[in-house]
Amino acid sequence: MSSFTMNLPAEPTTSERIAETADLRPIPRIAIQAFCETPEVASVLERAAADRRMAKTHVKIHMGGIEAATDFYGSAPTPNLLFVESTKGRDAVLDAVDRLAGVCDPGTKVILIGTTNDVLLYRELLRRGVSDYMVVPFDLFDVIREIGEIYLDPSSGPIGKTIAFLGAKGGAGSSTIAHNVAFALSRQFEAEVVIGDMDLAWGTAGLDFNQDPPQGIADAVFSPDRVDDMFLDRILAKCADNLSLLAAPATLDRTYDFSEESFTGIVDVMRAGVPAIVLDVPHVWTAWVRRVLTLADEVVITSVPDLASLRNAKNIVDQLKLMRPNDQPPRLIINQVGVPKRPEIKADDFKKALGMDPVAIIPFEPHLFGSAANNGQMIAEVNGKSPVAEIFEEIARLVVGRTVARKVRKSAIAPLLSRFSIGRRKAG
Ligand SMILES: Nc1ncnc2c1ncn2[C@@H]1O[C@H](COP(=O)(O)OP(=O)(O)OP(=O)(O)O)[C@@H](O)[C@H]1O
Ligand SMILES: [Mg+2]
Repeated sequence: MSSFTMNLPAEPTTSERIAETADLRPIPRIAIQAFCETPEVASVLERAAADRRMAKTHVKIHMGGIEAATDFYGSAPTPNLLFVESTKGRDAVLDAVDRLAGVCDPGTKVILIGTTNDVLLYRELLRRGVSDYMVVPFDLFDVIREIGEIYLDPSSGPIGKTIAFLGAKGGAGSSTIAHNVAFALSRQFEAEVVIGDMDLAWGTAGLDFNQDPPQGIADAVFSPDRVDDMFLDRILAKCADNLSLLAAPATLDRTYDFSEESFTGIVDVMRAGVPAIVLDVPHVWTAWVRRVLTLADEVVITSVPDLASLRNAKNIVDQLKLMRPNDQPPRLIINQVGVPKRPEIKADDFKKALGMDPVAIIPFEPHLFGSAANNGQMIAEVNGKSPVAEIFEEIARLVVGRTVARKVRKSAIAPLLSRFSIGRRKAG
């Protein structure tokens, strides 16, 4: 039984609560309907429905509780998932559920929402085929988690964490940072990392990793029907241990005008099979870019310390807060700080305008970055001891949070393993 002790959160959702929801996964394209009795429950379901993790679902919320549902579905097909609320006592609820069962299609899953923490009722409901019983009060995240538990099969493997990198201005260094953070991620964590270069005309991920694969992201976006896990395997180019690339063609023989959903299929397939996905998003503002930013779990904005970037960064942050009200705000990186003789806007002014501290301030180091870019290497390969390489490692740790397991060095685990095997031999 799902008996929730959280109170309905006051708007906006607290950052503690958001932090606890890092493991929430997007819900598949199911139809969900609800028949509520109380406005409180209807409002929580509405807020859940508006969350980005529910973007693929089709949700309809009605009032009238379980009785209205029974009337309604007497002449209408039932959805994949049905929430019904009842504030009545055990016997009345069970009677109502029996009547509802008479009009429910076999594939429909039902979640009952009630007011009493009643184990006997819970058992009786399960016996009647109800999927779960939720006791008020609960919040939108509890709802999304509940749906996820029903529809996301744990045996289908972890869903990836997606980190989108966007520049506040062209040339800010967003791609360079995305590639170096991905490289740091692939080295630090025992998890496969994929970089998706979404700048199809000009993307530099292939150059930065010294790769020129024949296939890449264009194959996925121009034949969306073929995109599945096996197709992904074919178009990925391996750059390093644990690091693969979906390269941009970077050719101009055709134009790249995408619809809003052009990248949704490939991103969905990646997140179903790859633990960490770094999306190198070009500095444009189109429907598909906005869509990709709602799909991502984390957004990292790279800005240079000038006025235009400050304005743009502020606009992006404000827009993302509107688009992702139940998520962490994006992270800000100020890059190319300390260009000789150039007047700069201070980190403090960014903080005042954006209401957030930058997670990193990266110095302007033309020799280091220039050598890396021209040699097709990462900063850590050019100079592993440079403070900039450490900054990339820090950012990598920050953006993956806790969903990707920390890499355990072989040397550290070996003594433990040998002790374990000796112990087993003795026991045997
Ligand atoms: N901190 C830095 N110091 C010196 N050079 C840098 C720094 N960061 C990035 N660069 C250089 O700036 C140039 C632009 O970087 P990059 O292509 O990553 O920017 P971008 O924001 O992705 O640009 P675009 O708008 O074209 O996508 C590259 O040549 C890169 O090597
Ligand atoms: Mg770029």
